[in-house]
Amino acid sequence: MTGGAAPASVALVPTMGALHEGHLTLMRAARDQCDHVVASIFVNPTQFGEGEDLDAYPRQLAEDSAMLESEGVALLWAPTVEAMYPSGFATSISVAGVSAGFCGADRPGHFDGVATVVCKLFNQVQPDMAFFGEKDWQQLAVIRTMARDLDLTAPHVTSIIGVPTVREADGLAMSSRNRYLSDENRAAAATLPRAMKEAIARIEDGQDVDPTLAALEDELLGAGFESVDYASLADAMSLEQIDTLGNAPARLLVAARIGGTRLIDNMAVG
Ligand code: PAF
Repeated sequence: MTGGAAPASVALVPTMGALHEGHLTLMRAARDQCDHVVASIFVNPTQFGEGEDLDAYPRQLAEDSAMLESEGVALLWAPTVEAMYPSGFATSISVAGVSAGFCGADRPGHFDGVATVVCKLFNQVQPDMAFFGEKDWQQLAVIRTMARDLDLTAPHVTSIIGVPTVREADGLAMSSRNRYLSDENRAAAATLPRAMKEAIARIEDGQDVDPTLAALEDELLGAGFESVDYASLADAMSLEQIDTLGNAPARLLVAARIGGTRLIDNMAVG
């Protein structure tokens, strides 16, 4: 190819709707880096397990669409379930290793559903860059691995960009599921990021990881959380669990339930 203007770049921001400030931050990051932003809204049934909140998941297409328009999003792609999974649909993408632990252990098949729908969205939109929140750290790792393994990445298709988590004033990570919390549980939920920061400070200070994570779990249970699905230190890329800090980037990942709602969070360590 010779001369001429560079072709316009396209960003994709995949979402399941019920947009909040965290999503809008993704749209702004996408707009800063690309000429045109495509947002998708699709409540993907294949990533919900039995007994999960597929039916109750908030759906507010008109409101979301107005928010996207005011953020300068060029195109909203909101396919139906029938369009995404027509009768006879038979393919599933499974990313071994990074999908297995953490949320993957509690939600069998969840990341297969995510990888499959994201691969379809990449093929449908063919973006230059795709933006995902770091709040779903394991999801980001799964998508990066899938894109690398299936040659969906640069030079000519998708660069995957992780955008730092957006938090409420008290530190709670923004999530569409926060709206399920009662006032009392919402106040108690702020213990999660606070206790994580305390645990990180201790680990960075050289204290043993296992008792520090046990104390973090106790603090959450004492604050009103019903259960802690996991509280683990892991290699930030492979998500293999570690019990000492080394030179590679590490991440503290936590999932805990309060008032029947499962909250997840993660933060860099070291
Ligand atoms: O993070 C989400 O909202 C979803 O998992 C995603 C990436 C849009 C795939 O359905």
